[in-house]
Amino acid sequence: MNAIELETRYSAHNYAPLPVVLARGQGAHLWDTAGRRYIDMMSAYSAASHGHGHPRILAALAAQAERLAVPSRAYYNDRLGPFLEELCKLTSLDAALPMNTGAEAVETAIKAARRWGYRVKGIARDRAEIIVANGNFHGRTTTVVSASTEPDYRDGFGPFTPGFRAVAFGDLGAVERAITPRTAAVLIEPIQGEAGIIVPPAGWLLGLRRICDAHGVLLILDEVQSGLGRTGAWFAFQHEGIRPDGVILGKALGGGVLPVSAFVAHREVMDVFTPGSHGSTFCGSAPRSIPTSRARARRASACWRKACCRRRRTRRSFAWRRRSSSRARISTGRSIASRRSCASSTARAGARVRRDRL
Ligand SMILES: Cc1ncc(COP(=O)(O)O)c(C=O)c1O
Repeated sequence: MNAIELETRYSAHNYAPLPVVLARGQGAHLWDTAGRRYIDMMSAYSAASHGHGHPRILAALAAQAERLAVPSRAYYNDRLGPFLEELCKLTSLDAALPMNTGAEAVETAIKAARRWGYRVKGIARDRAEIIVANGNFHGRTTTVVSASTEPDYRDGFGPFTPGFRAVAFGDLGAVERAITPRTAAVLIEPIQGEAGIIVPPAGWLLGLRRICDAHGVLLILDEVQSGLGRTGAWFAFQHEGIRPDGVILGKALGGGVLPVSAFVAHREVMDVFTPGSHGSTFCGSAPRSIPTSRARARRASACWRKACCRRRRTRRSFAWRRRSSSRARISTGRSIASRRSCASSTARAGARVRRDRL
């Protein structure tokens, strides 16, 4: 059996890949098993924002893996502290909790918000609510799809986790009307990445910040997609000069070599976690601190600026670009529709991948 047949035979069919078998990546390029070169406009949905096989990241990864790879959080290690410090400085927040995937970091944020709701805000036990947006995408775990408004992500996976209220994205009035004394948090993507790349009206984040402050509600931003340089700033929230109470990072945080995510928050929010209340076996592994540094993230940003230039030529790239000081616009290869149907997904992606035969 060839690679496609093997994958089809032994894999769950939860993806519908293009009939291209990739074998190598370097910078902005990918090569298939037949030696054809492609410009990688997809960049693993921004997980490879640094480009493939960045030599400094690979060297650091190899050196760290040889020195100490998986120490577990049962001990301290000499890499985790500097990594967490970097995350906190970058986001101007106080404490970080690393996880593996974006969905896990969202789960972490949900747990933090709920416990904060009970222990700090005084919401009655098990009654906390989190406001999310219609058309959101925060990942695919059971609790996270409970917050989704997309039927295809939920179909057949109930019963769902209660405690989410969805409102129109970009509608400040709807958010304010949805807030009750039970509301612990507003969890929102600054720019929606799945619902068709929705850029909210200018002032949306600023308005959310004011509403959350007025009602004693946490503002948690999912910057898994929009963060780390993809809008021309480190984070999309910086375009409106606000500071969230918590921010969720993933994808490019792993430098294109490891699954690394994090929930970063104010100390008051993070302090709801006590030993045993949350964790993951690999969340303290030393090499995960390798890909993150300001210089590397800056490089990610530069990569995407380059991708934007390409977009003008190809009109088919996957890049965030800055529109004005307060607004950002995204052009992407992925939409909800592309996940909705395998067939249309393949067709759309096929249109997106620009094959560059040498
Ligand atoms: C905004 C956002 N949050 C969370 C996730 C989930 O990340 P992961 O696929 O690593 O679980 C994604 C993935 O696309 C995302 O775009």
